Amino acid sequence: MDGKPENILDMVRRALAAQAELGVGELVVKSANSVEPRTVARLIANGSRVVPVAAAIGVEAVETDASPASFGVELDSQFDSLDAHRAAICNCQLCTLGKTRNKFVYGVGNPNAEIMFIGEAPGAEEDRLGDPFVGRAGQLLDKIIEAMKLSRQEVYIANILKCRPPGNRDPEPQEMEKCFPYLREQVRLVHPKLLCALGRIAAQALLQTTAPLGTLRGSWHVYENTPLLVTYHPAALLRFPKYKKDTWEDMQKLMARHESMK
Ligand code: URA
Repeated sequence: MDGKPENILDMVRRALAAQAELGVGELVVKSANSVEPRTVARLIANGSRVVPVAAAIGVEAVETDASPASFGVELDSQFDSLDAHRAAICNCQLCTLGKTRNKFVYGVGNPNAEIMFIGEAPGAEEDRLGDPFVGRAGQLLDKIIEAMKLSRQEVYIANILKCRPPGNRDPEPQEMEKCFPYLREQVRLVHPKLLCALGRIAAQALLQTTAPLGTLRGSWHVYENTPLLVTYHPAALLRFPKYKKDTWEDMQKLMARHESMK
C-alpha cells in the first residue's frame, strides 16, 4: 500500500477475486458490476455458481445457475498471456464434455507464432496427453509443417473445442458456441500473421458460414482482420491421400503469403 485510502469498491473486488482464487464453490453477489468480469468468467468456467443475492436468500424466483451473459460477462474477457488464460479456463464445465474429458487440450507452440493452425477437436490421443494433434493426424500435420520448413515449436496449434467429443463425433453447435470464445482469446494473444483452418468444422466455425469445404478451401478469407486459408483436415488426408496434392498447393500459398509479409 502506498498510504492512499483504498476505494471501498476496489477492496470488495479484491476480496471477491481472492475468494475466486481460493476456489469458492458459490459466490453471492449484489450485482454484476460488484465483481470483475474476469473473476465471474473464471468462477463460472470452473463450475462455480455465481448467485445474485436475491436468489440466494429466496426473495425472488430467479435462475440460480447464472450464465455469464446474465452477468454481462463476455467469456472472452481479455488475459495478459496464454498461460494466464489457460489457467483460468482449464477446469471448464460449460458443456457436458467437461465431464467426459480426461485432459483439457488448450493449445501448443510458439506464443508469438506468425502462423496458427486451427483444427476441430481433440481425439483419443490428444485427450490422453493434453496436447492438440499428437495422434496419427497430428503426425501428418507435423510432416506438413516440416515440409514448409517450419517446426511444431515455431507455429501455434489449437482447436475449436478444447475437450474431446466422445467417440470422436462432430462437435455439437452448443459446444462450439461455449468454447469458441476461448479460441478467439488465443488468437488475440498469439496475434498470428496468418491463420490456417484445418477442415470443414474449423473453417465453418471461424468464418461463421455453412458453406461446404469445397468452396472454402484454397482461397483466402479473413477472421477478425487476420488472413485465413482453409485446407483439408489431416485426418481426411489419411483417409483420402489423393487430397495431399491440393493440400500441398494450399501450403505453398500460405508460405508465399508469409514470405511476402516479411
Ligand atoms: N483432430 C483435430 O482436429 N484436432 C486434434 O487435436 C486432433 C485431431
